[in-house]
Amino acid sequence: MKYLFSDCEQEIANIWRTYAGFTIRPVPSTIHYYQRLIEDLNSNSPSFLYGATPEIRSIFQTLNKPLVVRDQSLTIIRAMGLLTTSGAPIAANEVIQIDHWLERDLQSYDFLIVDHAINMLLWEQFDDFFQIALEQLNDDGIFVCHLLIKPDEVFTKQSFDQVVNDYHCGLIDNIYDLASRLNFICYDDGTYQMGWQHTIHQLGAYQLSALMPDLDFINQFKYCNAMFTCPPQACFEHLASQYFNIVEVFYPHEYDYCQFEPVYVLQKRKL
Ligand SMILES: C[S@@+](CC[C@H](N)C(=O)[O-])C[C@H]1O[C@@H](n2cnc3c(N)ncnc32)[C@H](O)[C@@H]1O
Repeated sequence: MKYLFSDCEQEIANIWRTYAGFTIRPVPSTIHYYQRLIEDLNSNSPSFLYGATPEIRSIFQTLNKPLVVRDQSLTIIRAMGLLTTSGAPIAANEVIQIDHWLERDLQSYDFLIVDHAINMLLWEQFDDFFQIALEQLNDDGIFVCHLLIKPDEVFTKQSFDQVVNDYHCGLIDNIYDLASRLNFICYDDGTYQMGWQHTIHQLGAYQLSALMPDLDFINQFKYCNAMFTCPPQACFEHLASQYFNIVEVFYPHEYDYCQFEPVYVLQKRKL
């Protein structure tokens, strides 16, 4: 499935710039948390990134640490590269792999990191993803997994009018939370999925126009074709715990939606 409706690297980079603050890109507290974990890495062997997250690549570039970047799209990897500290489509410390995340990598690593990437998979694929990550992780290695989990039902069961009312009375006090709350009311309990185009189709242009000019939801997200699978937290932890010990769980804090975006630090279970 095409992730972004553009094939032009510069256009993709420009689109991605407009996503800062929204759930799509890591917020400053998450980036700072990643920075600390990566600075503490004492091995200088290559680390492994699922996806092309520019904020993570910039940390490895600044520390001049080797990084393997795997994404199914070379265009996305190069476009995201334009947003990194080096500004290069592919930096000198990076080795890229154009491949599916469910394909095994023969090499193993001390550090694996995922920023929202696992949400791109179907829930049925999470188990395979963990098994492969387990095989790619050295015994004392760590696996950092940042994902979106199922929002509370108090949010998923709201109506569109209730969300609009919460925004107008200030209970929702920024457009980043407003955008996420619109996705939340379109959450699919059957597949655990939500996504930008899905929300546009569910709510429609007429309803969404009620939030303009503050948030032009359709214009803001018209290029992003992501459907993200956000399992209930208990289900995610139950599955992860079959392969990993949960060493730490960090929660970013800039926006209300961050309560549904934990960052798990996982270590291989000694079977
Ligand atoms: C939400 S992002 C991934 C997360 C990460 N934050 C990023 O910025 O790259 C979506 C990216 O994941 C890639 N992608 C989605 N599913 C994939 C898969 N199964 N294997 C490899 N890449 C995948 C898409 O090509 C797209 O570049």
